[in-house]
Amino acid sequence: MIITRGEGVRVFDDAGKDYIESVAGLWCASLGFSNERLAKAAYVQLQKLPFYHAFTAKSHEPLIDLSEKLLSVAPVPMSKVFFANSGSEANDSAIKMIWYYNNALGRTAKKKIIGRIKGYHGITVAAGSITGLPNNHRSFDIPLPGFIHTMTPHYYHGAEQGESEEAFATRCAEELDKLIVAEGPDTVAGMFAEPVMGAGGVIVPPRTYFEKIQKVLRKHDVLLVADEVICGFGRTGNYWGSQTFGIQPDLLTCAKALSSSYLPISAVMVNQKVFDALADESHKIGTFGTGFTYSGHPVPAAVALETLKIYDEMGLVEHATSVGTFMQKELRDRFAGHELVGEVRGVGLVGAIELVADREARRNFDAKDKVGARLAQLCESHGVIARGLPGDSLAFSPPIIITQDEVAEMLDRVGRALDELAVQLRREQLAVV
Ligand SMILES: Cc1ncc(COP(=O)(O)O)c(C=O)c1O
Repeated sequence: MIITRGEGVRVFDDAGKDYIESVAGLWCASLGFSNERLAKAAYVQLQKLPFYHAFTAKSHEPLIDLSEKLLSVAPVPMSKVFFANSGSEANDSAIKMIWYYNNALGRTAKKKIIGRIKGYHGITVAAGSITGLPNNHRSFDIPLPGFIHTMTPHYYHGAEQGESEEAFATRCAEELDKLIVAEGPDTVAGMFAEPVMGAGGVIVPPRTYFEKIQKVLRKHDVLLVADEVICGFGRTGNYWGSQTFGIQPDLLTCAKALSSSYLPISAVMVNQKVFDALADESHKIGTFGTGFTYSGHPVPAAVALETLKIYDEMGLVEHATSVGTFMQKELRDRFAGHELVGEVRGVGLVGAIELVADREARRNFDAKDKVGARLAQLCESHGVIARGLPGDSLAFSPPIIITQDEVAEMLDRVGRALDELAVQLRREQLAVV
């Protein structure tokens, strides 16, 4: 498929057919595909200062203004911002800072990093090692040693018979505690968590989950990184996913909707405690030798600043909450009772439907049947670009600017695709109905 242009929440292929982008590209083009102000912000900055770096005590206005803006909207008090070009680089940089932090404190053995099975944090060697998806590891010789994974907090599949959401959350926290104790708390440095796990299946944590795991992390002096690469900037109905789930991170990484993805930029925010240790160590050893040529590049920084300004003007949180509430209700009303749908989940403007072969037994289809991919394909023929995730889930993460009417139109089209798939699977006798 060759995509040639975009307009609002839609993109068009080279035959002129329109598609509603139900995942905003890669969960990222939050202001849609035709925002003039962002194009203009890039052009103006290109004319004024097309490049400058942030090495050797240099800086420039877009970088300074963007840092200040990010710190002013952070979900918890943060001290400093470091820029990179992608979510993976932001997470890699956060890992390095955690290692550097522990070296600063003389805890040279405290280095292991915890991710979660089905978590997604990118694909560079270190960020890819925190990722907990086998397809991103296979044949790449990752995860590297020193990266460990704890269980997926997915109540629908993970809970035992009769176990409440809260009890399941307690069990997740107990498992995390056991993992840290087994590894040795003096060797475990940090944990990365997406507020809602995106690429692993739009997995919304069970009630009380973050409260309980944060207690465990604090007990063992393990830093928490909130990976807000998908959840940041209104996606979950608050400015940050951390606010939706009561997360108080020590470091926070973001990207994607930071610039509505019109140009690549990502950021790591660190709190005062972390920054003080980084500063002490760099004064001691004489260098904080990390940074990218394009860290804080003025053009993406100017686009990001304009993006955040637009969010303020449009009432991002109010809009995401009202359209998000509508989307969640429509997803449930339309699909929760569908013969192929096991679970509808989500919060705000991120959601998923999970297809199952047997609703009663919560049994997924055989992976080789690629049922989720087939649904995504059918959605395309009905005019929606959709994303099939592992475990035959179809994700919804449309541009944040989407209206209720557009949500309804998107779900009408998905509904037609789903019904067509049901007819096919019945004929093939793949689903228990
Ligand atoms: C939660 C999360 N973290 C990190 C990344 C990696 O970002 P990038 O693809 O920009 O490296 C992604 C990408 O989808 C993501 O969803």
